[in-house]
Amino acid sequence: MNVIERVDLRNFRCHEEFALDCNRATTLIVGENGSGKTSVLEAIYLALRGKSFKGVDREILRRGADFYRAEISLVDAQKVIIRFDGAKKSFEIDGKKSLRLPKKNRYPVVLFEPDDLYLVGSSPSRRRDYFDELFRQMNDAYGVALAKYNKALKQRNDLLKEETVLADDLFSWNVMCAHYGAEVLHRRVENLAKINAEMTDNYRSIAKNNDVCALLYVGKEVDENEYMAILERNFERDVYLGHSSFGPHRDDYEFEFNDKKADGSASRGEVRSMILALKFIEAQILETEVGKKPVVLLDDIFSELDDSRQRHLVDNFRDYQMIITSTAAPEMMGVDKEL
Ligand SMILES: Nc1ncnc2c1ncn2[C@@H]1O[C@H](COP(=O)(O)OP(=O)(O)OP(=O)(O)O)[C@@H](O)[C@H]1O
Ligand SMILES: [Mg+2]
Repeated sequence: MNVIERVDLRNFRCHEEFALDCNRATTLIVGENGSGKTSVLEAIYLALRGKSFKGVDREILRRGADFYRAEISLVDAQKVIIRFDGAKKSFEIDGKKSLRLPKKNRYPVVLFEPDDLYLVGSSPSRRRDYFDELFRQMNDAYGVALAKYNKALKQRNDLLKEETVLADDLFSWNVMCAHYGAEVLHRRVENLAKINAEMTDNYRSIAKNNDVCALLYVGKEVDENEYMAILERNFERDVYLGHSSFGPHRDDYEFEFNDKKADGSASRGEVRSMILALKFIEAQILETEVGKKPVVLLDDIFSELDDSRQRHLVDNFRDYQMIITSTAAPEMMGVDKEL
């Protein structure tokens, strides 16, 4: 069940040199604010997903240093070495170098940050980013379609901002937006249904009551033809606005609690339990869809949860490798690394 065995960092954010053995099922990293806990999770995430959840390489490179190196040893004997020389980054896996982390070497990750607890009431763009990242992990094809959609959307929007634009000028971009946009919509709705199928049961296992919760897709799922027709119908309005008014880039996700919008109706504790449920579902779904057990990274969230939710968290992720950061050691755990 363990994926990661050891982490070695050089010039990675505040770490000039850092090493961590994670050969137990649960690794707890304890340190003061600013001591570099999140940075360790960032390095692990980089090795498993191929990119950071926080920043770009130039930000990661320790101030004043001219290279960084992160070596993540995996249990199945392979090693991921990431190097950045101030300009270029490379991944090396068992001696083979590449500019990107090859798909077959990616592992699913469930990352839980304190910010996630505010997902229910945050901005639509934050929610879109959140689910985009989850769906990218669930299906590679989602990531490909989304990237192509965003590229086509940008071209379409650039044209819409020009002084004069004819409907014909947009045609080829409409075709691309409709093709990839419809795929993005379809996959979002499909993936959301998979989450929803588990939502209430998982919630009840935490809250021990009969409440019902669900996630709604706020947007319209249309096929490619209908999508194309909408874009053509919207021509004048889009020219006036200077951007594309229809598409998955405008959609949102809504958390529902007992058939009402959770934001504004559910209590703080109920919202927290919903997010916890979502995290458990992420782990199960990623395991099923990807066929690999995700690594669970819990960044500083224990201080945000009460005793019973803390215990539930640890209990539920018992079958996964967990790497946890905290400013103080939770009672039920031993400290593996003190920063
Ligand atoms: N490129 C860099 N070079 C040097 N230091 C950096 C760099 N990037 C970030 N830092 C610093 O590294 C420190 C560690 O950041 P990190 O977020 O990992 O700490 P943390 O232990 O998670 O803190 P917190 O408990 O507040 O979340 C911070 O003080 C930050 O300002
Ligand atoms: Mg942190």
